[in-house]
Amino acid sequence: MKLAIQNIVCIGAGYVGGPTMAVIADRCPSIQVTVIDRDPARIAAWNSATLPVFEPGLDAVVQRCRGRNLHFLPQDQGLAALQAADAIFIAVNTPTKLVGDGAGKASDLSFVEACARYIAENAAGHTIVIEKSTMPVRAADTIKRILKSNAQGATFDILSNPEFLAEGTAIRDLEKPDRVLIGGERPEAIDALAEVYAQWVEPAAIIRTNLWSAELSKLAANAFLAQRVSSINAISSLCEATEADVDQVAKVIGSDSRIGPKFLKASVGFGGSCFKKDVLSLVYLCEFYGLDAPAAYWQAVLDMNEWQKRRVGLAAAKHAAAYARRIAVLGLAFKKDTNDFRETPAIDICNYLLAAGFHLLLHDYRVDSAAFTRQFSSGPDASLAFAKSPEEAIRGADAVLVLTEWDAYGQLDWVALRATCGQAPAIFDGRNVVNRSAAEKAGFVVRCIGKA
Ligand code: NAD
Ligand code: UGA
Repeated sequence: MKLAIQNIVCIGAGYVGGPTMAVIADRCPSIQVTVIDRDPARIAAWNSATLPVFEPGLDAVVQRCRGRNLHFLPQDQGLAALQAADAIFIAVNTPTKLVGDGAGKASDLSFVEACARYIAENAAGHTIVIEKSTMPVRAADTIKRILKSNAQGATFDILSNPEFLAEGTAIRDLEKPDRVLIGGERPEAIDALAEVYAQWVEPAAIIRTNLWSAELSKLAANAFLAQRVSSINAISSLCEATEADVDQVAKVIGSDSRIGPKFLKASVGFGGSCFKKDVLSLVYLCEFYGLDAPAAYWQAVLDMNEWQKRRVGLAAAKHAAAYARRIAVLGLAFKKDTNDFRETPAIDICNYLLAAGFHLLLHDYRVDSAAFTRQFSSGPDASLAFAKSPEEAIRGADAVLVLTEWDAYGQLDWVALRATCGQAPAIFDGRNVVNRSAAEKAGFVVRCIGKA
C-alpha cells in the first residue's frame, strides 16, 4: 500500500525542529506542517517578529509560510494536528545523561521517550514516526516498544532521518543538503518520506539504509568532524612550538583531494550542543559492546578538545597578564552566525580568566547577554560586563581576546582602536580572523593560534 504524507507534526521547536520544518513547509506548499513544543514561551517566540533561533535566511523562510502551511502551537493545543498527522517528527533534545546508568556519557532519551508515549496515546490511524533527534544506535527499538505497549489501536512505522545541518548555515544546508538519510524497515514508509524531500532534493542525494545504519551514521559523521578539528588543533600546538604556521599546514593537507580543505581551521576548540554529547554517546556505545580500544580512540578526540580550551585559556591569561587586568572578550557564540552558546569554549575560557582575577568586557553580535551571564556561578558581578560593540569592549582594555570568528572582527580599525586602549595592548586571536599585520602596525602585540 502506498503511503503519502500530507500532514506533518514536529515535536520540538528548537534549533533543528524550527528551521527544518520551515524549509519543508516552504518547499512543499501542499503539506501542512505543525510544530509543537512543551515550552509555550518558545512557541510564542516562533510566532513573533523575533524568532528564538538566529540563522541567516530563516526569517524570510518563516515569513513566507507561517500561517499558510507552517504553524507553531503549544503542545496542549496541538492534539488535532497530531491526530491528523501522517508523519510525526521527533526533534527534541537528547543531552548527555546526568544521572543513572551511563551518566556523563550516554544520551538521555527521556525527552524522546516522553514524545513516544504522547504519540502512542494520541495518534490515530497509521502514522510514520520519524527520529529527527540524534539517537544512540538501536534507540528505535525503545521507541517501537513504547509505541506498541501504549498504542490505542493506532499503527506505526518508524524511520530514522537524522539531521546534518550546521548552525549558522542551517538554511543553506537544508535547502541544498549534501545528502538526506532515511533509515527504515518498510520500503513504503521510506518512499513516503523520500517523496517529501524529493520535492527539492536531487533523488541521488537521498540515501536509504536500514534503521541501525542511519542512527549510527549520524553519530559517526559528527565524530569524524570533531576528530578533524581535534587533529588540526593538535597540530596547532606543534606549529607554535616549531614556528610552522597552522594555516599553511592546513592548506597543504587540505589540497590532497583524499583529505579535502574543510574543517581544518585551528581554533580555541570546538563547542556547540552536539559534538561533545555525540562523541560521548559513541564512547558509551563502544564501552557497552565491550570495545575498549575504539572507546579510548573516540575519547581522545574529546580529551584533545579540553586540552586545547585549557591551553588557550591559560596562554591568553599569561599573554594578557604581562600587560593587563582588563580584557575585551570578542565572540561568545560557539561559532559565527548563530546566537547559540551551548558548550561554547568562551564559557570555559572566561572562567579561567575570571579565576585569574581579570576584569572582562564581553561582546557578541547575537548572544543574549543576560542568558550568557547566568552561566557563571558568581552571577552578574563587577568582573564581568557586556559591551554593545567591539569598539566599546576594547575601549580602555589592556588585552583583546577573540573567541568567535564573526566576520566583522576581521575588519576592525586597529589604528583607531589603539588610541582607546591601555599602554601596551595585546591581542590573542583564538580564531585567526584578526588582520594581524594591521594590528601589529598599530602597535598591538599579537598572538595567534598555531602561529609563532
Ligand atoms: P533544542 O534544545 O534547541 O530544542 C529541543 C526542543 O524540544 C525544546 O524547545 C524543548 O522544549 C522541546 N521538548 C523537549 N522535550 C519535549 C517533549 N517531551 N514534548 C514537547 N517538546 C519537547 O535542541 P536542538 O538543538 O534543536 O536539537 C534537537 C535534536 O537534534 C538533538 O538530538 C540534537 O542532537 C539534534 N541535532 C541538533 C543540531 C543542531 O545544530 N542544534 C543539528 C543536528 C541534529
Ligand atoms: C555540527 C555538524 O557540522 C553538523 O553536520 C551536525 O548536524 C551538527 O553538528 C549536529 O549534529 O548538531 P554545528 O555544531 O552546528 O554542526 O557546527 P560546526 O560547523 O560543525 O562547528 C562545530 C564546532 O567546531 C564550532 O565550535 C566550530 O567553531 C568548530 N570548528 C569547526 C573548528 O574549530 N574548526 C573547523 O575547521 C570547523
